[in-house]
This record gives sequence, structure tokens and C-alpha cells, in this order.
Amino acid sequence: MKKMMIAGNWKMNLLRHQARELTQEIILKIGDVKEGVDVILAPPFTALDIVGGLIAGSRVMLAAQNVFWEDRGAFTGEISPAMLMDAGCKWVIVGHSERRGILGETDSIVRKKINASLDDGLNVIVCVGETLQEREVGKTIKIVQSQVESALVDLELEDLQRLVIAYEPVWAIGTGKNATPQEAEYVHTTIHEITGSIFSQDSERIRIIYGGSVNGDNIEELLHMDNIDGALIGGAGLDADSFVKIVKLAGE
Ligand code: 13P
Repeated sequence: MKKMMIAGNWKMNLLRHQARELTQEIILKIGDVKEGVDVILAPPFTALDIVGGLIAGSRVMLAAQNVFWEDRGAFTGEISPAMLMDAGCKWVIVGHSERRGILGETDSIVRKKINASLDDGLNVIVCVGETLQEREVGKTIKIVQSQVESALVDLELEDLQRLVIAYEPVWAIGTGKNATPQEAEYVHTTIHEITGSIFSQDSERIRIIYGGSVNGDNIEELLHMDNIDGALIGGAGLDADSFVKIVKLAGE
């Protein structure tokens, strides 16, 4: 079995003092959780240093929510993989549907971000998923397949365990309407087949996690599925009790 991963994506929430309070509470409550789960917090850029300082020496890892693909230069407002490493990040989230949908990130931009991040030593969570409209016209697999295949182009075998695919159906994000475990498992199994057709046995190293209205009440069933290796948490990650409950259930 692959190691479970639970990642909290805080999105554009929390001022620095709020980020400090939430992190302190999470660290305190997470104390005795088994080593079998990778726990990641992805605060906004402005709180990376605070959260990074508080989790130092713990088993929680720091992630950024976005990155640019160049190392340095005249790219006003952007942040490079090297800068994220310097700020203590081990992980970065790339291709979130909010970035694809609101900020116009294309598959080719996502690929550049993945390659630059891996090259500079960051581990990557790449998000894929269909919109409601795409699902309703039966395009779920087609969309997810093209996003996954595009993300994996140029990937070296030794980087496979440094890449996690997050299946986040757009219609399930922040809506309280999560995919059923069976719906999620169907897409995860397909992603597994796609990665298998590219990397054969080596693809077993890629974890596939689910995101979209995950909470302490629905996580257990989701994690019972064979091809769901963890979860990317939005709203429930802003509440220490809910987040820690999810982490604990993932460790069982
Ligand atoms: P919610 O858990 O709020 O639906 O958000 C999921 C998500 O987008 C995580 O990246």
C-alpha cells in the first residue's frame, strides 16, 4: 500500500496571525498521529514563513499553492521554485482548477511549472478534474486523460514518487457535494491505467489523491477505495479539529 497523503490547501484565506493560530492548533492536536501519513499544509505565500517556522521539526511539510517556471528575472509578481525551496517548501500545488478556470492556466503552463519545480527539487501535487458541464456531456475521462497525459510529458522515472496527482472534480470543490467514493474510484482507476500505460510498473510510485468537499465525515469511505491514496482538503482544512480528524482517519 502507498503512503497516504493529506494536504490542506488554505487557498486565499487567513491573515498571518490566523495562520499562526491554526498551525499551532493543528500541531498540538496532530501529536500522536501515526507516521503512515504524509501531512502537508499549503498556506498563502504571505504566511509561508510563519507556518514553516511552526512546523519545523514536526512531521508536517510545507507547500506553496502556485509557482512560476523561470528561476529568476523580470516576471513581476511571480515566485520561482528556488524561492519556494528557500522559504522552506517541500511541495507545490500546480494546476489547481481555480488557477485553470479563473487565471487561464493551460495544460502547457501547468507542464512548465511541473518541470521547473521538479528540476529545482520541489515535489509536486498536480490537480486535474472536469467541470460539471464536461461531466454532464460525458467528457470526464477525456478531459482528465488529456490533463494527466500533458502533465506527465517529459517526466523522468526517478521523479515519479515526487509527483502526486490530485483528482478534483470542479463541481465538487467548495460545493459540499463530493464525488461518491465509487465515482472518485472510477476516475482514479482510469488515471492509474493512464499512468500505467506510460510508465508500466513504475507508475505504482505515483500517488493519486482526491479533492472536493472532503470532510471528517466522508473521508473514511473515500480512503477505503483501492486507488485513492489520500486527499487534498480545502474548506475543512481551515478548521483544526476537522483537519486533524481527517489525518487521523487516514492513519488508521
Ligand atoms: P473544498 O474541500 O473546499 O471543496 O476544496 C477542495 C480543493 O479545491 C482543494 O484544493
